[in-house]
Order: sequence, then C-alpha cells, then structure tokens
Amino acid sequence: MHVETLEWAGGRPGHVRMIEQTLLPGRHEVIDVATVEEMFAAIRRLAVRGAPAIGVAAGYGVLLGTQDLAGASGDEVLARTRATCERLAESRPTAVNLFWALNRMRTRAESEHAAGRDGDAILDALFAEAADIHAGDRDTCRRIGEHGAALIQDGWTMLTHCNAGALATGGMGTALAPIYVAHEQGKRVSVYADETRPLLQGARLTAWELMQAGVPVTLITDNMAGRVMFEGRIDAVIVGSDRIARNGDVCNKIGTYSVAVLAARHGIPFYVAAPLSTFDPDLAHGGLIPIEERAPEEVTEGFGSRTAPEGVAVYSPAFDVTPAELVAGIVTEVGLIERPDTARVEHALALGGRLQTAG
Ligand code: MRU
Repeated sequence: MHVETLEWAGGRPGHVRMIEQTLLPGRHEVIDVATVEEMFAAIRRLAVRGAPAIGVAAGYGVLLGTQDLAGASGDEVLARTRATCERLAESRPTAVNLFWALNRMRTRAESEHAAGRDGDAILDALFAEAADIHAGDRDTCRRIGEHGAALIQDGWTMLTHCNAGALATGGMGTALAPIYVAHEQGKRVSVYADETRPLLQGARLTAWELMQAGVPVTLITDNMAGRVMFEGRIDAVIVGSDRIARNGDVCNKIGTYSVAVLAARHGIPFYVAAPLSTFDPDLAHGGLIPIEERAPEEVTEGFGSRTAPEGVAVYSPAFDVTPAELVAGIVTEVGLIERPDTARVEHALALGGRLQTAG
C-alpha cells in the first residue's frame, strides 16, 4: 500500500491535508492548508511537489479560493475562480499539470456560468471537478503502472531520478507505479535511486516511499549513475516528467538528461512514465518549455549547512530536457508510446481525448 500525499478533508467548507514533504524523511507530518495563499506557498516551497500532485493541489486550491461564496451570484463565483486560477498559476512555471488542472477548473466554471447556473450550482460543479481531477489521477497512475509493469522482467534492477512516486501524484506514482505493480505481481524488482541534488528528492522521498512499500532500494549520489551502469547493475531507467512537448522531448528534474545520455552510452533503455495531462501539445519541441530557476541557497546551503564559499556565483535550473531520440518509450495511461515522435505523441493524445483528430 502506498502513501497518500494529499486529500480533501471536512466536506464543504473543507480544507486540504497534505504531507509536508520538506520535512521527510526525518518527520512525517501532515499539515492543513486552508487558504489560496497557503496553497500557493505549499506548492512553491515544495511541501507538495511532483507534476500530477501539483495539479491535484491546484484543483483543490481553487475550492479554497471560492468556497466562502455560498449564496453569491454566478458572476461573483466566476470572477473569483478566474482570479484564484491566475494566482495559483504563478506558483511554479514548469510542470504543465498545474496549468492543465487550473484550465479544467476555470473552463468548468465558465461553461456552467454560460449555461445560466447560479453561484451555488457553479460551486457544486467546481467541487465535482476537483474531486474528478484527483480520482482521475489515481486511476491514471494505476493504468500507467499496469502498462509499465509489462516492460519489467523478473529480476530487473531499475534506476530512477528524483521522485515520481506516490508522493508526487494523487495515486501510486508515475515512474514508480510500474515498479509497484511489478512488485505486487511477484516479480523481483529492485531500484537504484539517484539522490537528486540539490533538494534530494531521490534520497529523502523515493528511498523513503520505496522502503515503506517493501521494494528493495539502493541509494546512490547522482555522480555514481555512470559507474553503476558501467558495472552492469542497471537493466532499465524509468523517470517521471513535468512537461512533454508534442515531439516527445521530455522535461524532468535537473540531472535527468545526464542519466539519459549515460543510458544511451551503455545501451540501457530509458523510459519515461507520465499521464497525458503532462503533455503540452502547444509546444512543438522541448526547447520551448519554461525552466524554473531556484534560489542559490538551495545549492550553497541546502538543509542548513553551508557547502560553498559566501558570494560564489550559482546557476540552478530545476529541470532539464531530454531529447525524444534518447527515449525508448513513454508509458501513459493509454499505453506505451514507443520511440516517441510527433506523430506517435499526437496519436496517443487523440486516443486519450486530448486532441480532436488522430495524427
Ligand atoms: O521539483 P519537483 O520535486 O516538483 O520535481 C519533480 C519531478 O521532476 C518529477 O520527476 C516529476 O514531477 C514527475 S512526478 C510524477
């Protein structure tokens, strides 16, 4: 059984309860998030993180921003929905699931308003939409797990980077879902987890949740990945994604590109697991994906200990882009996109109803 990273609590009005991921693995604390500003801050400080989980949190964030409007007019509820979406859209720039979820919430309010519904009916619809985003993600993760498990052979060792597990989604994860399902199926599967500098999502989160689930995991620092591949310890790489361009270029946590290059050098298949909500059909290639830059202190004094001279220049992109040509396949809820390119991505998006016509 995997951990649940966040949930809606208390009915209407209600609030979000989420694991404060910045404290893991030392402390497993659940916090209450009751306002839009608290949700904004939680997303920004990475209390809730990972593309699908950010999307689920954003959907609930719109509820936090509108639930005091019981009895208000449809115009007021729509205006507040739009303002809340605009605010939450400023929290982080790269994971497209944030914008996908906010777009669903705003579009739902707009269509209910256009149909002449009153404020309370629009609020009802927003609650249903947020719950559906969460339930849909849970279901999607399971499907990704089932499609991806078929790729994993008994006895395989997988390498992963960052955290794309239950902590990063509304369900059992993306990159870790195939591993969880293979484990459930009785396959012997083990994992090497990259530590993932500078915020250590691999060490703090992936190692923690795999150990909770009883999946054998070995922690390495990021610069050891080449060595473990050279030693023949890795059968396949699997990572999550924050945004995938229409041609299959994959944006994920900084360091993923290095892992993909190393995997290619060693003839190891490099897989990505992501829901269709992580695709951005509006971007023709990965060079167009906005890359978040994080504060220099995360590099020079992460976790309170100074490890670089005062005043040193720092550059800290939080994500990188792996070209589609290095990707063996993208596991989605509608199946595997093998050797992704524009036509294959468009075909999968059409199957999942995210494009009007099949490519
Ligand atoms: O900065 P983070 O921790 O939000 O970055 C998360 C990642 O890069 C994950 O690999 C990605 O969001 C996929 S999560 C299923």
